Amino acid sequence: MGTKTAKFGVGKRESHDSSAFYERRLQQIALSDETTIVRSDVRNRILTTTAENMSDLASNSVALMITSPPYHVGKEYDSDSSFEEFLVMLRQVFKETYRVLEPGGRAVINVANLGRRPYVPLSHHVTQMMLELGFFMRGEVIWQKAKGAGGSCAWGSWRSPSNPTFRDLHEYILCFSKGRFERMHRPGRATISKEDFMRDTLSIWDIPPESAKRVAHPAPFPVELPRRLINLYTFENDLVLDPFMGSGSTAVAAVELGRDYVGYEINAQYAAAAEDRIRNTARVISDVEAAPDAAVIHPITTRTKRQKLKLAEG
Ligand SMILES: C[S@@+](CC[C@H](N)C(=O)[O-])C[C@H]1O[C@@H](n2cnc3c(N)ncnc32)[C@H](O)[C@@H]1O
Repeated sequence: MGTKTAKFGVGKRESHDSSAFYERRLQQIALSDETTIVRSDVRNRILTTTAENMSDLASNSVALMITSPPYHVGKEYDSDSSFEEFLVMLRQVFKETYRVLEPGGRAVINVANLGRRPYVPLSHHVTQMMLELGFFMRGEVIWQKAKGAGGSCAWGSWRSPSNPTFRDLHEYILCFSKGRFERMHRPGRATISKEDFMRDTLSIWDIPPESAKRVAHPAPFPVELPRRLINLYTFENDLVLDPFMGSGSTAVAAVELGRDYVGYEINAQYAAAAEDRIRNTARVISDVEAAPDAAVIHPITTRTKRQKLKLAEG
């Protein structure tokens, strides 16, 4: 027999009947009956203009947006704008994201909170902005970047209640969808394995950070992050957008997994480096696929040939 939302404490989860929970109307929502999906001709390209205007992309044409925006913390690519102007820029990019996403398409934003005096909850600002733009929030993953703080001594007052502060080991991965909860039916295959599905539907992900030096960008995320999201949220041949492409990590993961990508990167030098990185990935894939017995070279039997690679990116 199925379980119900417990009136006291926490119930069991098998075959869970959550109607009592939803009948309490925590939130008024209006589902969209839009079903149009458009195939974008703009695929596998990085456009070197601002993502505030994505008029190159048709409405309802993108299955998944994954991004890590600038954090406004003085990296070499950060502008001199005020925090308010920075939020206006982000809002415009995510407004365009809403337009280009297909019904049920997902938008996933990796973001950290900032500073200590006071702590700036950027994840809160972004969540609020996304809700105001009409997205449904679908969950939040804590990305645990390390187990210990390494050399960080930024603990405030040492062993004194005067002013101790937290040393963050995590960032957020905020997940939203457009208009509805389910993706529309797609002809492509799902590619996630049972093991990865079990791991990646949990809300804490343990992934080491990427080295800025290795990919020649000041603030990359590891390819494993978009890899998990693409496998979880898209079918093969779907289109994945990153409006702040940086070193191309999202595109690399898309190519690995047999999806198409499109991105914006305002800095032409980063965009060129990202394109090199993407070409290298594609080359490794075609070498492995041309090998007479790729399954012997990469003996992970439950995965597709592309996934067997784990590729040049590691
Ligand atoms: C945090 S980085 C993205 C890093 C990326 N996830 C990676 O793994 O390399 C943000 C990027 O957004 C770019 N950028 C900033 N403002 C932009 C805008 N308005 N349109 C497009 N790209 C922009 C910056 O040049 C920077 O490379």
